[in-house]
Amino acid sequence: MTSPVPSAIASLLLAWYAQESRTLPWRDAPTPYAVWVSEIMLQQTRVESVRPYFRRWMERFPTIAHLAEASQEAVLSTWEGLGYYARARNLHRAARLVMERHGGRLPDDFRALRELPGIGAYTAAAIASIAFGHDVVAMDANLRRVFARLFDVETPLGQAETEKRLRSLAETHLPAGRAGDYNQALMDLGALVCTPKSPRCETCPLRGLCLAQANGTQTQRPTRKAKNRIPHYDVSAAVIRRNGHILLARRPENGMLGGLWEFPGGKVQPGETWQAALQREIREELAVEITVGPRVGTYRHAFTHFRITLQAYECRLRPDSPPLQALEHSALAWVTPAEFEAYPMGKVDRRIARRLQKGEPCVSD
Ligand code: ADE
Repeated sequence: MTSPVPSAIASLLLAWYAQESRTLPWRDAPTPYAVWVSEIMLQQTRVESVRPYFRRWMERFPTIAHLAEASQEAVLSTWEGLGYYARARNLHRAARLVMERHGGRLPDDFRALRELPGIGAYTAAAIASIAFGHDVVAMDANLRRVFARLFDVETPLGQAETEKRLRSLAETHLPAGRAGDYNQALMDLGALVCTPKSPRCETCPLRGLCLAQANGTQTQRPTRKAKNRIPHYDVSAAVIRRNGHILLARRPENGMLGGLWEFPGGKVQPGETWQAALQREIREELAVEITVGPRVGTYRHAFTHFRITLQAYECRLRPDSPPLQALEHSALAWVTPAEFEAYPMGKVDRRIARRLQKGEPCVSD
C-alpha cells in the first residue's frame, strides 16, 4: 500500500531530506551496482566506517564485470577490516551469477534480487527503491525506530505483531514514486535526529506529529526485549616459526571469517592453561606437537555475538614432526613477515601480523 497523495509525514520528511540529506559517496552516481555495494557494506556497519571502503572498492572493481573477474584474495583484501566477510564472498559470487544469468546487469526486480547471495528482504527493498524506483519500504533499524516513536508503539521490536505494525505504518505513508528518497530520508532522520540515545526532537521536522514526543516516551521507544549477556571466550593462537617463515592457516570457506588467513589456535577449555589449549588445538588442527614459548601479546576483540581475549605465543614444532596436515583449514602457508600483507586476515590476526613485521620483542610475564 502506498499513499497517492503524500501524507503530512511524507511531505515534511521529503522537504527535510531535500535540505538536510547526507552527502554520501554512493549518492553521487547511484547506479544499481553502487547502491548494491553500499547496501551490502552498510549491513551492520556504520556509514563513517563504510565511506573509505566504498571508494576503494569502486576504484578497484568499478563494474560488476570487474568484480566477477577478480580473485577471491583480491576481494577479501579490499574488504579487510570491514568485518562479516561472508558479505564480501557473497557479493563476489553474486557478481558472477549476475554475469551468467542477467548479462552483467543487476536485475530490476525484487524477486530476482532476493535470489542473489547476500541479498535479503531489506537489501532487495533498498536496491529496488533507491536504484530502480520501486514502491517498497526498506525496513532497517532507523525506520523501525522512527515509526515506533511517531506512533508511540509500546510492544517490543522483534515480536511479529510489532514488526507487522511498523511495516504497515511505513507502507501507509510511502509516497508513490518516491520510495528511494522516502527510505533514505528516514534513514538519515534516524541517523542525524531521531537517534537511539538522545534524540534531537527540537530540530525534528516531524515533532508536531510525533506521539512519543507528545507523551515524553521517546527515549523508551522502541521497546526492546531483555537481551541475553554476550559470552566471552579465551582463545590462544600460535606463531609457529620454521627457517625464518611463520605458519599461516586459511579458515574454511564458509563460516566466521571464512577464507581469511590466521595464526592457528582456538578456544581455551575450562580448567585448561592457555599453553595446553594451544598444544591441543594444534594437534587437532594440524596433527603435530609444538612447544609453546613466550607470549607475543594479548588482544581483546568484540564480535557481534561474543567477545574474545586472545593470547598469541611463539611456538616451535617438536623435532622430527611429521608433515603438517590441514585437518580443519582450507590451506596452509609458510610465509615471511614481509609477505603478510598479501594474505587477507581478520582484525586480531592483522594486529599480531603487524607486531611480528615490526619485530617487536615478546611480552615478558
Ligand atoms: N544505511 C543503509 N543504507 C543507507 C542509505 N542508502 N543511506 C543512508 N544510510 C543507509
